[in-house]
Amino acid sequence: MSNTPKILVINGPNLNFLGIREPSVYGADNLQTLVASLKAQSKELGCELEHFQSNSEGAIVDRIQAAYGNTDFILINAGAYTHTSVAILDALSAVSIPFIEIHISNVHAREEFRHHSFLSAKAMGVIVGFGLNGYRYALDQAVSYVKSKKAN
Ligand code: DQA
Repeated sequence: MSNTPKILVINGPNLNFLGIREPSVYGADNLQTLVASLKAQSKELGCELEHFQSNSEGAIVDRIQAAYGNTDFILINAGAYTHTSVAILDALSAVSIPFIEIHISNVHAREEFRHHSFLSAKAMGVIVGFGLNGYRYALDQAVSYVKSKKAN
């Protein structure tokens, strides 16, 4: 892989409805605005960023598999699949790409079914409750991790 860190951002079901969906929980900004700001941040950080959103579990598994061998780091908000999907956990484990799990809301302050994540045990870290800034923190962390790994 080249020296430029390659970061994949994956957003799961209903995150295409950011800005429409429960703004008191998820905020007023839409997904396009979020992706544009992550792309701008990527330019400053000197990384390549690709974004993928799907409402389908299988499509997310396919995209994770397609990242094998060509992606340094994954940032994933799997939405509701976080709490249900062994398949997404298995895909992330299969490709051995380090990842950060992100949640816009503080899932631990919400319904009990949101407290368990299938992904957390294999994540490098988990960012919850900081709104869309969580993606920005995760991107900073991912790029510094990949850069330091490539330097060694
Ligand atoms: C979410 C939290 C999940 O419980 C929920 O199903 C989502 C979004 C978040 O970003 O806070 O779709 O992942």
